[in-house]
Amino acid sequence: MSSQLSTALSTTLSILDAAVRRHRRVVFATSLGKEDMVLTDLIGRQGLPIVIFTLDTGKLHTETLALLDDITARYAIEIERIAPTQADLDVLAAQQPFDAIYDSVDSRRACCNARKVRPLARALAGANAWITGQRRAQSITRAQLPLSEHDAAHGIEKLNPLALWSSEEVDFYLRNNHVPINALHAQGFPSIGCAPCTRAIALGEDERAGRWWWEHPEHKECGLHRNNDNNPRRPIIHIATASQTV
Ligand code: ADX
Ligand code: SF4
Repeated sequence: MSSQLSTALSTTLSILDAAVRRHRRVVFATSLGKEDMVLTDLIGRQGLPIVIFTLDTGKLHTETLALLDDITARYAIEIERIAPTQADLDVLAAQQPFDAIYDSVDSRRACCNARKVRPLARALAGANAWITGQRRAQSITRAQLPLSEHDAAHGIEKLNPLALWSSEEVDFYLRNNHVPINALHAQGFPSIGCAPCTRAIALGEDERAGRWWWEHPEHKECGLHRNNDNNPRRPIIHIATASQTV
């Protein structure tokens, strides 16, 4: 393992460890993408008391949902599936046809709001902190991503323990630890969201080029991470982490 990855890994483990020591209820939002499988592996193998959930938008690929069974088989963990409410879906359907997501950022965000953002608020109810698999190198909107921040939208701490990892480090970790991953990665999907909003990328394209490919890079956020939206001066919490080795 490169010394750079070993430093990134021990930072990540320290953050996870500090979170469960400091908070009564810590939850982790997994999209079942590569980064989130690194975190699932760390949480699962160490038996950390962190509840893992996924926002099942009703529009995920079958390959993505298949990973839920692989995770249970490998780590004996059940991932909670949080679906949108029928009431929210009805309001959305009355407001716009599904294909309106391709017409404007506002219409696309209305769909993300009903299928992801509002369910996220339910998933975070009662939690003191939540964890994401975001990385700085993923996009222009995440270049300033802190390891820990205050999530004003939900009034709790938000941890991004992979913020400093490169995509090569993620791939190396997954390979080296034989972590199960989404079958779509082998078909040219480095970043995976809902099926209607994700396509495979060509060689040399940016890793998030296949997400909402019809939009400009600065709009490519779904609303789960509001601090990423045009907010260079983010409220950052500095946390003391215990150093720890695996
Ligand atoms: S996002 O714009 O869809 O949020 P990305 O796929 O890069 O971007 O996900 C970033 C992080 O947001 C993931 O690591 C995960 O923590 C959270 N996330 C994204 N989609 C979901 C989902 N469907 N369910 C739970 N968490 C999610
Ligand atoms: Fe809707 Fe696409 Fe957002 Fe999924 S990613 S919630 S399908 S707009």
